[in-house]
Amino acid sequence: MKIVVYSSKPYDKQALCRVFDAEWEVLYLEVPLGLDTIAYAQGAEVVSAFVNDRLDSKVLEALAKGGTKLIALRCAGFNHVDLPVAKKLGIRVVRVPAYSPYAVAEHTVGLMLALNRKLYKAYNRVREGNFALNGMLGFDMHGKTVGIIGAGRIGRLVGKMLKAFGCHVVIYDPYTCEACKSLGIEQVELESLFKQADIISLHCPLNKETNHIINAENIAKMKKGVMLINTGRGALMEVLALIEGLKSGQIGYLGMDVYEKEGALFFEDHSCEIIHDDAFERLLTFPNVLITGHQAYFTAEALSHIAQTTADNIHAYEGLNSTTDCSENEVTCG
Ligand code: NAI
Repeated sequence: MKIVVYSSKPYDKQALCRVFDAEWEVLYLEVPLGLDTIAYAQGAEVVSAFVNDRLDSKVLEALAKGGTKLIALRCAGFNHVDLPVAKKLGIRVVRVPAYSPYAVAEHTVGLMLALNRKLYKAYNRVREGNFALNGMLGFDMHGKTVGIIGAGRIGRLVGKMLKAFGCHVVIYDPYTCEACKSLGIEQVELESLFKQADIISLHCPLNKETNHIINAENIAKMKKGVMLINTGRGALMEVLALIEGLKSGQIGYLGMDVYEKEGALFFEDHSCEIIHDDAFERLLTFPNVLITGHQAYFTAEALSHIAQTTADNIHAYEGLNSTTDCSENEVTCG
């Protein structure tokens, strides 16, 4: 069986080769999946894609014509896949629901600490022989209220870690979170979270309800000087509203690992080019903004888990002998 793996960087390839190459005929491509690169997938029964690959109706239709029957996502989120179209075309879609919630939760807390204690400034200052503390004042995390949006695997872990710092943790999720009670995390309404949190961290999926959940209207409800952290998905935040919030001081700190238009930037080296995204460039001018390029998941453990689960998902697909059977990590079934 032929598999084409899109958006596979050398570090992905290393982890994937270990579990793929003995089993299947695999073509690893660094380029992302899109209409201009779809020809590589001709005749491939399985196409493996990542977070910024294009999987809209046009791409899916072209893949179906070329004989693709399975999209094996190497990520948890599937907001970039047109699932109804995939289902209509008979293309199954599987994903890696949790490759390392620890990796993402630890990076999230890392962003909070780095922003609070200005570690990114300290690194440069000390290297330049500047040991002045002006502008480096932080705050105790202990006793602060942290609001988490999304009580899933990552959100609960972030809450658990912050409880260990002595934070008061509140969480919003449309569903009751039984596990939160035993962690000492209080489940609250979204409005109440916006009002009381000193730090707000996003861990919900991107969907119609959560798209631009951080907008001008909601930012105005928050405490002045709030810290906002997004390691979920870029479009959870409305970038122009962030810029206005930072300019007015309503947002005191902003940490992002994801960005709405990251597809044109992230995972590539653009250091010798002019970046044409003015909103992104404006964000970088603020001294209280820290952006990482979708690396929260990026640990050795997570890469090997992604490779193994993707291989397991493809095995499960190979083992299905009826179109009504579903595999565990399938998102187009039922
Ligand atoms: P999960 O599926 O375990 O939890 C998501 C939670 O969000 C669920 O409890 C769900 O009920 C809740 N939710 C659904 N709609 C909501 C809404 N309207 N408001 C608030 N909560 C809502 O997912 P997990 O593993 O915790 O991941 C969370 C998100 O993190 C993923 O959807 C993905 O977008 C992002 N992620 C980012 C990574 C990175 O490298 N930056 C890596 C992995 C995931």
